Amino acid sequence: MDLLIETIKQEGIILSDSVLKVDSFLNHQIDPQLMLEMGKEFAKRFKEEGITKIVTLESSGIAPSIMTGLQLDIPVIFARKKKSLTLVNELLTAKVYSFTKQESNDISVAKKFLNENDHILIIDDFLANGQAALGLAEIVKQANASIAGIGIVIEKGFQNGGAKLRELGYRVESLATIHSLKNGEIIFKEEARG
Ligand code: G4P
Ligand code: NA
Ligand code: NA
Repeated sequence: MDLLIETIKQEGIILSDSVLKVDSFLNHQIDPQLMLEMGKEFAKRFKEEGITKIVTLESSGIAPSIMTGLQLDIPVIFARKKKSLTLVNELLTAKVYSFTKQESNDISVAKKFLNENDHILIIDDFLANGQAALGLAEIVKQANASIAGIGIVIEKGFQNGGAKLRELGYRVESLATIHSLKNGEIIFKEEARG
């Protein structure tokens, strides 16, 4: 998605060979027009799939998910990282291991929002090692719902999450894929090919 790639080029800050900071439009301050365009793009790519709901993870997955849900006219559910006050037996939960933080956390969704008739689009802001997406997929499976695909705003193609998810058979659609962050330079997959 050209607008996203341009915005990353202008505003992305390379923190290391593997971490890109995009807090001016996605992870802290949010650019609503850009989110809307992302929503239109995800909706375009998945509109034939008969998706009934979007499942994402708080907090940075929510903005692009809302815009996609608006375009597809379907609800958006965000998995919580902190347990709500709901009784635990009313929750679907999965463990998500963060390689970045080297810790494991439970994410959860209330059972009442997902059922076996649902066909789900999973959305998240970053795809690194794929643990968040796998946790969300696990929750969808616990509800006996099906998964149409996984929409990612920024995929880090040099980490193994994308390959892992695609090997498992998931359709993964990323709006921008970063090939490398080495030498203080952001190289996109599209550019690395050419
Ligand atoms: P994984 O799910 O793909 O395995 O990724 P990982 O555990 O490494 O990610 C932990 C957190 O860091 C996630 O956000 C993820 O979106 C984010 N993240 C991963 N790589 C990058 C990166 O290069 N840049 C930025 N800005 N974030 C990255 P989170 O803790 O769930 O936070 P949030 O959703 O509340 O923002
Ligand atoms: Na994040
Ligand atoms: Na995230």
